Parts: sequence; C-alpha cells; structure tokens
Amino acid sequence: MSVTRRQLGALVGAAFLAPALPARPASAAAPAWKLMWAPDPAAVGLRAFETIEDDRADSHPAGQPHIYVEGDAFRFNMHTADRDTSTDRQRQEVTGNRNPDGYLRWLTGETWRVTYSMYIPSSLKATTTFTHISQTKMPGTGTSPITVTSLRRVNGVQTIEHKIFESDTLVGRTELEPLHDKWIDAEYEIKIGDGGSGSVRWVLRSGGTTLVDATKTGDTFLGDRVRPKWGIYRSLGDTSGSLQNCYLLLRNMRAYKQVQATATRLEAESATISQGVVESNHAGFSGAGFVNTDNVAGAYVEWRHTAAAAGPATLTVRYANGTGSDRLADLAVNGRVVASGLSFPATGAWTTWASRSVVADLAAGANTIRLTAATAGGCPNLDYLEVVQ
Ligand code: GCU
Ligand code: CA
Repeated sequence: MSVTRRQLGALVGAAFLAPALPARPASAAAPAWKLMWAPDPAAVGLRAFETIEDDRADSHPAGQPHIYVEGDAFRFNMHTADRDTSTDRQRQEVTGNRNPDGYLRWLTGETWRVTYSMYIPSSLKATTTFTHISQTKMPGTGTSPITVTSLRRVNGVQTIEHKIFESDTLVGRTELEPLHDKWIDAEYEIKIGDGGSGSVRWVLRSGGTTLVDATKTGDTFLGDRVRPKWGIYRSLGDTSGSLQNCYLLLRNMRAYKQVQATATRLEAESATISQGVVESNHAGFSGAGFVNTDNVAGAYVEWRHTAAAAGPATLTVRYANGTGSDRLADLAVNGRVVASGLSFPATGAWTTWASRSVVADLAAGANTIRLTAATAGGCPNLDYLEVVQ
C-alpha cells in the first residue's frame, strides 16, 4: 500500500482531532549517570574537596601552599625537599568530592564514575617505586589503597597504569612519555563490592584517541566507604633518577553516580504535528515512521509526557539531517524555551540517524515538550523523543 504525503498528513490531522488513542510508550528502567559533582576551581577553590593534605608534616613551609587553583585547574606542586609524615615518601593530595551542602559518600553496592583532564609535565616522571597520582581508599589511616593510578617504570619504560591494589590486578597500562606536556582525559568507573562483585573500568584518551579502555573484576570494598584522592604521592626509593621538582594539573573534574532511571520513547509520528507529515521513505527509523516537517520556521512536533516526579530529565531527540548544514530548532518544556536555536548537525544522509540531548526540568504529571523549527529549513526529520528521568 502506498500512502502519499498528503494522505498521511490528513491521517495525522484526523487522528489528532479524534479522541486521542493512548500512545503506547516504550518504557524501560535502565542505568543512567547522574551528575553529582562538577566543581569550578575558580569559584569554589579547594572547597571542591573533602580534605586537603598539603605538606601535612609541615616539612617545607617555604613551598606552601603546594596545592592551589591556577586558572581553571587544580595544581599540585612537589619539591624534592617535601617529606610526608613517613619520611621515605612525599605526599600532596586532596580527597573526596565536596559540594556546598556536604561531601559525597560512595557506598558499597553503588557505581560511581569520575571524569577529568590532567596535565602531566615531563618533570613528573614514572619511577621504579610507587608514584600514585590518583587513588581510591577507605577513609582513615592504616589501610591500603583500593585502586591506584600510577606512573611506573616497566623494563625501563615510563608508563601510566591503573591497578586494583590488593590483588595487584592490572586494569590497563600505556606509555607515559607520549602523554607528557599535554592535556589528557581520564575516565574511571568503580562498582563498589567485595570480591567478585566489584569492578573497575579505566579509560585514558589523548586528543581523539582512546589509549586504554579496560574493565577488570576485583575487590573494591574494604569497609565504611570509598573515597577518591588526587595529587602526587610517591616513594623516595626510586633508583632511576626520576625524582625532581614537578607538578600535576587537574581540570574539568566530574563525579557521577549510577542511578536507575526510566527511559520512555515517544515516537514523533504519534505526537502532535504542526506543518509536517509522517513519512517512512528513509530507512532506519523506529516505530512506524518519522516526521518530516515542512521546510519553514515555526513548524513543530509536540510530545506529551507524564513524569512520575518533578526534576531534571534528559531529553534526547533522534533525528536525521541529510542536508549539508545544521538545522536549528527551539526546545520548549511546558511552553518555556529550555534550549533556543538547538543545532542538529548534518548526519550525512536522510537514512543516517543521530541523537541530540538536553537536560531540562519536568513538572510532576503532564508535560508538553515541543520542538519548533527556528529557521526556514524547518526541523530535521524527527524519529522520536526519549525521556530519561
Ligand atoms: C528531502 C527529504 C525529506 C526532508 C527534506 C528536508 O525532501 O527526502 O525527508 O524532510 O529533504 O529538507 O527537510
Ligand atoms: Ca522537511
């Protein structure tokens, strides 16, 4: 059966005027990442952290502070003169994730993700004994680390590695020297649990290249809770001559907690359409088709969604844009524009679909979510809206 564009348009119009049949939303509970900590160094300074261990043995007052904000980054200085309370090692570290209303507690059974960028100058070298630049630990003294990111010499080669400490499980490792003197991106995920119920994922990227993306199972819980640390904590036992005055920079620090969220898929072809038609001539869509809005500013698709609770939701629009330029649209929730001139970049073909996400607050109960073409090109072709909350 072939249905013309005009007939489909009429069908949609008729369905819209008739008593609405309940749309059958595809809903599923799925894990989602909830942003819990995103300190702006310039605004909050070292209050971003639960505790600061800046020369805690007061070994080098002339070098204080060793930890401070520099531009958009946190800076950790280490001088060869610095000594920790155990004098065979050095430590300039911060712990935890502090928000204005208190610090985060990472508990057993939970999964956390931390992302950040780091700058390791060539003066901060890998050593034959330990140099940790990040750890997770149980707070308090007397326990070993749970996981460590370390700069270690392996067969004379400088490397950066991540390990589950107690079992000495190597999660991943790559050469350090190519990463010196540039910003690199780290991603760390910990599922907190005893024995085989724990796991760690460690990802390291430089520019657009993923150098390590590895996951290992292992014991990630000692007791109480897990707390991250960053900075420089290293042994003076190095035999490679690598200890010198150095520093470490960290920026764009984020912590996310995994939560159960409900994803609801709302097909565009079941939504209210103004100046557009349902079509199915470009493959790859979900449901019965997609909406092709008229190429005119003001054309829109409006979805209805019933939210269980008020609060932030991730709104993801699946779309295709087979033209060579961006299509722009305004996203409004309950009549209020939450993203103006949201761009939908070219996807390469009308059969190539991509996603665009916005986080916006929903009201408890009924909500309208409307995407309105902002320019004469109209909207991109719209497949569905997914609401994750
Ligand atoms: C083509 C394409 C449509 C699209 C339209 C547009 O006609 O087949 O699916 O909607 O371009 O430029 O918006
Ligand atoms: Ca169109």
